[in-house]
Amino acid sequence: QLAEIAVTGLATMGRNLARNLARSGFRVAVHNRSQERTDALVRDFGHEGQFIPAASLDDLVQSLERPRRVIVMVQAGGPTDAVIDQLRPLLESGDIIVDAGNAHFQDTRRREEQLREDGIHFVGAGVSGGEEGALLGPSIMPGGTAESYAALEPMLTKIAAQVDDEPCCTHVGPDGAGHFVKMLHNGIEYADMQLIAEAYDLLRQGLGMEPAEVGKVFERWNSGDLESFLVEITAEVLAHIDDSTGRPFVDVVLDQAGQKGTGRWTVISALELGIPVSGMAEAVFARGLSSDAARRAAAREALPGPSEPPAVPDRQRFIDDVRDALYASKLVAYAQGFDTIRAASDEHDWNIALGDMATIWRGGCIIRARFLDRIREAYERNPDLPSLLVDEYFREAVANGQAGWRRVVAAAAQMGIPAPGFSSALAYYDALRAPRLPAALIQGQRDLFGAHTYRRVDRPGTYHVDWSGARGEEER
Ligand code: 6PG
Repeated sequence: QLAEIAVTGLATMGRNLARNLARSGFRVAVHNRSQERTDALVRDFGHEGQFIPAASLDDLVQSLERPRRVIVMVQAGGPTDAVIDQLRPLLESGDIIVDAGNAHFQDTRRREEQLREDGIHFVGAGVSGGEEGALLGPSIMPGGTAESYAALEPMLTKIAAQVDDEPCCTHVGPDGAGHFVKMLHNGIEYADMQLIAEAYDLLRQGLGMEPAEVGKVFERWNSGDLESFLVEITAEVLAHIDDSTGRPFVDVVLDQAGQKGTGRWTVISALELGIPVSGMAEAVFARGLSSDAARRAAAREALPGPSEPPAVPDRQRFIDDVRDALYASKLVAYAQGFDTIRAASDEHDWNIALGDMATIWRGGCIIRARFLDRIREAYERNPDLPSLLVDEYFREAVANGQAGWRRVVAAAAQMGIPAPGFSSALAYYDALRAPRLPAALIQGQRDLFGAHTYRRVDRPGTYHVDWSGARGEEER
């Protein structure tokens, strides 16, 4: 009997996706460049379902029913291109290649266009949830043609996480849309993690709490609006004690955050689209700064902090304020993230349903959270919402928390504790709602030194002042 779907690339993610498909009742052909992994999969997990091992890509393709569905789960970049190049001559018009790795959406657009010449559907599918998600139910964000999605839907929706009987998988849009949305997911993940880290730092340094105590605070927060996977695991990490020293785990970990690059991609893409994503940008900057050991060492010696950091008179109020700052800043980061998806969707004609993205992120993925339902509802109320922040729920949530948010940002500045996520989110909020911005002054400066012209508030047209002469205004 022929296989219904194939997976090539059997490192942990690929292997777990293949197992998930087999456990869900699909016949899965499996292949890996080095045969040992294929053999190990069949040996260790063969009892879980129907695996059809293939020794080569040619074998793999031969063992598939039509249209052939091949999931590629190899490293992004060159290795993905190499596998696609090998598969291309083996496939026929109507067949489908799914790239389930973390590819850059522009690579996906390029590959889709190239394979389209042969009538092969290329589906860039974002898959989130790490190794465990891949096995037990990830959030899946497939791009590509509607026709290819129709052929994949029964399988993808079955292996995806389910929330309220809805699968965390939907057709995102054509060509690079799926990988773009996955990239945004990661950017939001970066922002979320940074904000959580700032909350921890403020409680730790500002109140002198022990990691385990802060962990308890996060545990409590996890039963309210902040309920989410990332808050839950934060409590777990903070409670953990290092085996070899008996010290809190967070105190023995080097304070230099790594990054594989998807957060940076998100910020670069948003910059190109002209969308301010200060929350994600600050998160990427903060990781970069943390890893800049030499500069930090030099500055630690040279730069003084505040001489009289303020005392915190009411500890419980401070804790509550930090929670409010965290929630409000998080709402800002998500608003910026969804603005970016909308801008990309407009730019590339992807026609992405924003509310659906919140829906498929409710389970399986790293940013899964209770409050994604609020985003879904906001877009149900108004699909053309200019910013999530002006939706009634968001407006009220931020309004309720803003006094605490402002106190925390002020306290952080006075204490000398860096809170770039909290403070930039607040600055964004204030800038967005400002009746007048100092951008008018910037226009004046630009006109003075470069004759870049300006527009007026009281009549149409473009103007320039003769700054070096009689300072008369002329229309340009
Ligand atoms: C997911 C994760 C996953 C991975 C990222 C982040 O959605 O399952 O986002 O894609 O953890 O690569 O990794 P970095 O923090 O190393 O950039």
